[in-house]
Amino acid sequence: MSIKRSSIHGQWSSRWAFILAATGSAVGLGNIWRFPYLVGENGGGAFVLVYLLCVVLVGIPIMMAEIMLGRRGRQSPINTMTSLAEEEGLSPYWKLLGWMGVLAGFIILSYYSVIAGWTLAYIFRTGAGVFVDADAALSKSIFTELISDPEKLLAWHTCFTLMTVIVVSRGVKNGLEQAVKFLMPALFILLLVMVGYAMSTEKFMDGLAYLFVPDLERLAEKNFFSDIFLPALGQAFFSLSIGMGAIMIYGSYLSHKSSISFNCFAIAIADTTVAILAGIAIFPIVFTYGLEPAGGPGLIFISLPIAFGQMPFGTFFGCLFFILLLFAAWTSGISLLEPAVTWLVENKNISRVKASALAGVVTWVLGLVTVLSFNHWAFSFTFAGAVKENGFFDIFDILTSNIMLPLGGLLVAIFAAWMMSRTSTVEELGLGDGAAYRAWRFAVRYIAPFGVIVIFLNAIGLFKLLGFTE
Ligand code: PHE
Repeated sequence: MSIKRSSIHGQWSSRWAFILAATGSAVGLGNIWRFPYLVGENGGGAFVLVYLLCVVLVGIPIMMAEIMLGRRGRQSPINTMTSLAEEEGLSPYWKLLGWMGVLAGFIILSYYSVIAGWTLAYIFRTGAGVFVDADAALSKSIFTELISDPEKLLAWHTCFTLMTVIVVSRGVKNGLEQAVKFLMPALFILLLVMVGYAMSTEKFMDGLAYLFVPDLERLAEKNFFSDIFLPALGQAFFSLSIGMGAIMIYGSYLSHKSSISFNCFAIAIADTTVAILAGIAIFPIVFTYGLEPAGGPGLIFISLPIAFGQMPFGTFFGCLFFILLLFAAWTSGISLLEPAVTWLVENKNISRVKASALAGVVTWVLGLVTVLSFNHWAFSFTFAGAVKENGFFDIFDILTSNIMLPLGGLLVAIFAAWMMSRTSTVEELGLGDGAAYRAWRFAVRYIAPFGVIVIFLNAIGLFKLLGFTE
């Protein structure tokens, strides 16, 4: 049975529009803010290596599956799962996969928006020259001052939520393409400038070694599965925007003629390159200025401004860097809200504007929890061998990226490779029925699900309990 639906929300104008938008979704705070601090907390080179493995073996095949489901269903992830399950004669409960994604999207956006708010604040701080010749102590105190003031955090969080709601309310296809086309390459070039600066610092080689050479001694202190594999897997999902429907809804606007595999590789390569460049730019600065690599979510906001304060035209570059980071965060934030908004439009018969406003209110209110996590409500706990100091923010972050996204991805893999008929996937994926298709099917059928399950079970210590591992 050949199925060719069209989406009531429209279609991308070209394959490149899709690649740019999906890259815009993937590249964001996850690459430049989250990746470096997780590397710092979870053991440097070993974490990076495992992360890359997760991207290639689990991330890319699941991303292809998720785009494929989106394109076949052509509706919000919840309704897509309902329709596809019906077509394949499966349980209607598959729609819960869509619901979990919407919930994860709300939670992620709620704190993502607070961190994007820091970026907004830093545009003005760097632009005003506050960091000229600043040392580590000054940079730290400027950061601490910002996050200990809930009023400021709330103001910036509100700005970012509004920015996101405005774009989503106008339809994600208008303007996104133009924005991403210029801003992503600009961000890329600026990261290269930062890498250039990092090369001039004393500890450049130390930074590189930290990032790329697994430190066996540190590794011995860690529990491989819970402290390295699980956070790396979570980061792969988070960074590639998979497991919650964002890439599925973008796939639903993709033309039937476009190659899903080519697109996925392009997106994953861009995403991974940006993360690695961010790491190369940051760690030499961290070591040169005696900062703590395991400094947590403040890492880039403390380390990079010191570099801007030292380099020629640093005020200009610093300001520009945070502007571009803001755009990267913006294009990701948009995709976090889109699955919920499309569902509201489809099911509640309200306009896109109303739906966006409603969804925006939900994440804004939820964001208040994160705002307070950095000050009045702060408490600490240990997770994955790292001390987490920001209570509910860390809980939200761990719950979504380490549990909900991998679980969502696991279900996508099971649905695409075990539940859907082979004919449907051959037809939709457009890879033909040869070696490439079989490689993909093997990866989503076996490698990705077993990878996620083994990592989950090990991380919760189930295997240990059963006596499988020491
Ligand atoms: N991938 C985005 C980033 O790296 C975050 C994101 C996660 C966006 C999940 C959409 C869905 O910043």
